[in-house]
Amino acid sequence: MTDAPGALSPLDEEGVGALVEEGIAAIAAADSLPALKEVRLAYTGDASVLALTNRGIGKLDKADKPAAGKLLGGARGRLNKALAERQAVLEAEAEATMLATEAVDVTVPTDRVPAGARHPLDVLVDEVSDFFTSMGWSIAEGPEVEHEWFDFDALNFDADHPARQMQDTFYVDGASVGAAEGQPANLVMRTHTSPVQAHVMLAQEPPIYVACPGKVFRSDELDATHTPVFHQVEGLAVDKGLTMGHLKGVLDHFAKSMFGPEARTRLRPSFFPFTEPSAEMDLWFPQKKGGPGWIEWGGCGMVNPNVLTACGIDPDVYTAFAFGMGLERTLMLRNGIADMHDIVEGDIRFSQQFGTTGKGN
Ligand code: PHE
Repeated sequence: MTDAPGALSPLDEEGVGALVEEGIAAIAAADSLPALKEVRLAYTGDASVLALTNRGIGKLDKADKPAAGKLLGGARGRLNKALAERQAVLEAEAEATMLATEAVDVTVPTDRVPAGARHPLDVLVDEVSDFFTSMGWSIAEGPEVEHEWFDFDALNFDADHPARQMQDTFYVDGASVGAAEGQPANLVMRTHTSPVQAHVMLAQEPPIYVACPGKVFRSDELDATHTPVFHQVEGLAVDKGLTMGHLKGVLDHFAKSMFGPEARTRLRPSFFPFTEPSAEMDLWFPQKKGGPGWIEWGGCGMVNPNVLTACGIDPDVYTAFAFGMGLERTLMLRNGIADMHDIVEGDIRFSQQFGTTGKGN
């Protein structure tokens, strides 16, 4: 209804009434705010019949003007009222539609920011460290790229000891920096955490009670029980009058903390260049496949006097014990993990089974 027909007579009650009815019908039929705007222009705008008719009032006799003004004013009033009401309805509808289409259901579960999970090995390192600090021991770390002297010589390995061979040890190319006079200059990826013992003894006066968790490297193939990069924790105690009895006590206590109250350890004679006497340490393992039994957990012994001497400690005054065990192995035993691949592959779903917040899950 945009075409405005010609003006009516300002006194044409019937015509104006019909115009208003027509306008009200058009307003009711407008089904959107833009459509209503067009109807408003058509029926009340400057070019509308009503406006044109209104202009005719000026030409009327003075006596007729009030009646015409009242008629046309009333018509405009009815139209404006209908427009305002329709406007309110259409605005409410538009808002409802917008709310419906743009609604966000805040109760829908989402994992848009998935919670991470600490690697269980990392958590185990924390537990192990907590255990030793709870006994008053301190925690020490050493370099992962290590002088051959610390990894082997200081620890009383012969120059031709098989562990130095290429098939066990990763040698670092072209490295001879910082080697002391007359000492082997090679750098290696440390093959065990025992070199941290030497660093600690060179840096501290006894008594020393220290645990050293960390990464170690050996040229093993990755398979169900081996990985070329793994973790150990080393323990070292240097004091007056320490014996294998103290060593055994610490190992049993540590075993119980890792594996529960039933756990205990057993020592079997063995050999390490840096301990004398040396022992393999077995763990009593109730969950062993095929029934409870002993299972190898690590190595230990009384620190060899040659090592104490090399590290500036008088073996006539002090004795020392040391032990070391693999942490992957500890985790696998404790949590029934059958395959090393699960530990090294870094699939978050593996870590999540141990909880997402670390300790205590
Ligand atoms: N360093 C030895 C290993 O890697 C373990 C060990 C540590 C043995 C301390 C004795 C004393 O097998």
